[in-house]
Amino acid sequence: MTPLLASTKIAACGLSPLWAQSPHWAPSTLWAQLTGSSFLFPEQKSTVAAEVDWVFYFILTLSLIFFVIIIALMVLFMIAYRRQPGVEPADSPAHSTALEVTWSVVPGVLLIFIFYWGFAGYLDLRTPPSDSYDISVMARQWSWEFTYPNGFSDKDLHVPAGRPVRLVMTSNDVLHSLYVPAFRVKQDVVPGRYTYMWFNAEPGEYQLFCTEYCGTDHSDMLAKVIVHPADEFPAWLEKASNVAETLPPVEAGRYYYERKGCAQCHTIDGTPRVGPSFKGVYGRQEKLADGSTVTVDENYIRESILDPQAKVVAGFKPVMSSYKGMLKDKQISVIIEFLKSLK
Ligand code: CUA
Repeated sequence: MTPLLASTKIAACGLSPLWAQSPHWAPSTLWAQLTGSSFLFPEQKSTVAAEVDWVFYFILTLSLIFFVIIIALMVLFMIAYRRQPGVEPADSPAHSTALEVTWSVVPGVLLIFIFYWGFAGYLDLRTPPSDSYDISVMARQWSWEFTYPNGFSDKDLHVPAGRPVRLVMTSNDVLHSLYVPAFRVKQDVVPGRYTYMWFNAEPGEYQLFCTEYCGTDHSDMLAKVIVHPADEFPAWLEKASNVAETLPPVEAGRYYYERKGCAQCHTIDGTPRVGPSFKGVYGRQEKLADGSTVTVDENYIRESILDPQAKVVAGFKPVMSSYKGMLKDKQISVIIEFLKSLK
């Protein structure tokens, strides 16, 4: 990328005036141009990505320059002032005001710059624009659920491009953290309170991670971020919202099984995972942790969804959290129909 292109790109991000004025000849910027955005980081796909990378490369370059200078001087002095036969060590000077002022003032000035850029970037990342599009996020072991203003929810995050999107996030169980590397945004998701994140993204499909260790399947707690061109987003939302409504019960049950987090822990091919497999579960006699047995029927399935710890199948850990308030009665009914169909 040419310096001119790079500077246009940074300036075009609608950042604070300071960012637009960043010296594009600075070593850190040259580094970014030489290495390309894919050398250390994925491509910059949000408006804040350029400024986050800029500060990172600035600090990295600065550290490298000082590292090289200090190591080179150490080696040089070791050779130049080594003990030599016939040369007695002279007294070294105890104090040099000029030297001490230099090594305090130069790093001090650099620190002020780093603090200013870091803090300005932090404030930008912490302050969602007032016209942002709100999506609520529920994290649970081990899936994500994204709910749109019309009530529709999905396991992947769909957003409109070129407009600020604010995520209002909370957790159903333990601490999670939402991270989209391409956008350079990451924020803890905490049970019992709401945390926020915002970004303004370019069209495309990106990976979303959980970056807080949250139990057995933490590494599977993934989702896609699909950024739709702004004019296509309303049509997508309308269409997606209607899909579940029009499906026959068994298919609707499968739809919720895949999107509400069931599939993360319960397979439908007979392999036990975190929880028992759903294959042939309906009508099965299950041995419980307390030694009694239960027949899996509509009531047992419903109870297990709403109060998972009530009757835990022997051999499985009581890790599931309740879906009370997260699944409507109608959704539970079609999930039961889906389980019945898994002979
Ligand atoms: Cu959720 Cu790790």
